[in-house]
Parts: sequence; C-alpha cells; structure tokens
Amino acid sequence: MRDNFSSLSKTHDDLVLLFFEHQKALLDRDILRASVLLNRYEKEIQHHTGLEEEWLIPLYEERIKARPGGDASNFVGEHSKILMYLQRLKDKLVKIKNLKEMTHELINLLDDEARFKDLILHHDEREERFLFPELDRVTTIDEKNRLLLKMQDANHQGVLKVRLG
Ligand SMILES: [Fe+2]
Ligand SMILES: [Fe+2]
Repeated sequence: MRDNFSSLSKTHDDLVLLFFEHQKALLDRDILRASVLLNRYEKEIQHHTGLEEEWLIPLYEERIKARPGGDASNFVGEHSKILMYLQRLKDKLVKIKNLKEMTHELINLLDDEARFKDLILHHDEREERFLFPELDRVTTIDEKNRLLLKMQDANHQGVLKVRLG
C-alpha cells in the first residue's frame, strides 16, 4: 500500500504512459484505437483530478499557508484547463476519423498534443513540488493511511488502474 502522498506521482507516470499509447496509435493511423485510448485517458484523469479535489486540495487549503505557485486555486484552475483542452483534442480526433486524407490534420493534432503534454508536465511538477510533499509534512501517519486508503478504495471502484496493451 502507498504510505505517503508523494507516492501518488506514480499515478502521474501511469497517465503519461497511457497518453503515450494513444500517441503510438495515432502514429500507426489506428484512429479507432487512438480514440479508445484517449477516452480512457480522459476517464482516468477525471477520476484522478476528482480525487485530488475531493480529498487532497481541501486539506491542503486548510493546513498550508499558500506559497507563490502553490496556491490551491492553481491546482483547481489547471484541472479545468486540462479537461477543457482534452475535450478539444477529442473533438479534433472525431473530425480526423471522417477524413480520407488525414496527414495535415494529424500533424496539427500532434502539435496540439505536444502543448497538452507541456500543460500536464507543468501541473504534475507543481503537485509533486507543493501538494504532495506539503501534505506529507502536515499529516500524521494515521491521517496519511486513512486518506490514502480512502483514495485507494475509490480507485478500486473507478478506472484508475492503468493496464496497457
Ligand atoms: Fe492534479
Ligand atoms: Fe495529480
């Protein structure tokens, strides 16, 4: 079992891997598989950001004195930006599905996805720098265990388990 909040960065890594699988399918021009993987990625990240907003960010807000770049509103604002951006990627992919000649639109989508990956990288770094370690610092072992267990239970009911292939 995970024993501190910093270990949640493993979920970030899993999500990066899932997005990579989606991009591999795009390069293979397997648009159906690329769509399935992007939809799955969306579910996973909605679940992950939902857990952070439900369990972690309120506690962080309550106990941590906000620091420049580490304000709770940064995390939440980035979540909605990420989800909106993702919707745009999904819309573009739907359009590509119906094209006979897709090269131009495909390159355009990959450019957009590169920007999306920057956004994710920036967000994950911010959480790994502020949210997780600060929560590790201000919670007791009991609190850590209780919260992480709750999040794990939610994971089991949800879709957070990333299995590739
Ligand atoms: Fe987040
Ligand atoms: Fe996160």
